[in-house]
Amino acid sequence: MIRKAVLPVAGFGTRMLPITKVVPKELLPILNRPVIEYVVNEVIESGFDSLIFVISYGKEAILDYFDVDLGLKQFLAERKKEKLLQLIEEIEEKIKYLSSIRQKVPQGLGHAVLMAERLVGDEPFAVVLGDDLVDADPPCLKQMIEVHLKLETKSPPPSVIALEKVAPEDVSKYGIVEGELVDEGIFRIRRVVEKPSPEEAPSNLAIIGRYIFQPVIFDYLKRIPKTFGEYQLTDAIQLMIDAGYPIYGYCFQGKRLDTGNPKGFFEAVLHYAMKDPQLREVLRELCRTL
Ligand code: UTP
Repeated sequence: MIRKAVLPVAGFGTRMLPITKVVPKELLPILNRPVIEYVVNEVIESGFDSLIFVISYGKEAILDYFDVDLGLKQFLAERKKEKLLQLIEEIEEKIKYLSSIRQKVPQGLGHAVLMAERLVGDEPFAVVLGDDLVDADPPCLKQMIEVHLKLETKSPPPSVIALEKVAPEDVSKYGIVEGELVDEGIFRIRRVVEKPSPEEAPSNLAIIGRYIFQPVIFDYLKRIPKTFGEYQLTDAIQLMIDAGYPIYGYCFQGKRLDTGNPKGFFEAVLHYAMKDPQLREVLRELCRTL
């Protein structure tokens, strides 16, 4: 049973500057809820009960959002605002075991994941990026758990990474994999290339922000040098592959929304607005009159 999920939310979010100077991108609102709540919902609905946030300076409000605000609760209770009280309590109760660790200087995703080593311990765990949303039923992470269960009979135990087909002109934004198809939508990964040019890319299968790892990944995260100025998670994945550890890629069913850049964020807002019957009408009307 995999119980722990690591949520790295320590990055500077430079693509979303200037707003990210004061507001973490993970707290930007998709309608009236922060991006991170959508991510946390997916993690909880996938059966995880222990969430480990990797935070940095100025990101404490992410933890506060899921914490208990006694003053606010008292204020709402005194004014008999039962519905609002219920809304707030639902958020407070979402995460059973919440812990956090600081990545004092953001030095890349690989470095952020390594910060969680002591809190994870010696058990398999998930990594879920705080700015990558996947609208899916069942949730993306749950789909990955199913794939992991299916492959778990093999030894050594597998790691599973979510993959998405991207347009050839976009491969240079992602880690791209090379591998062979072993089951429907499941690839055994042989090679990962970080941000290749379209000519160098071995495929158009991109790694997105959902991973299930064996704890041995920490040993490899300690061995990697910086590339592109940061400790890349993909470099540790390649070292694991080279050492004979099985890594599988899974093409999940669902819609991914990358909220870490202005265009992707706007698309995410529109996507969720279109799912709301009232807002859908507002949008339709706006489009007619614009
Ligand atoms: P990104 O590369 O999208 O985040 O990492 P970033 O570095 O904040 O963004 P840009 O490129 O400057 O715009 C994906 C996730 O990993 C976290 C981020 O907070 C984000 O949720 N991350 C990234 C860390 O926790 N630490 C890091 O050193 C880098």
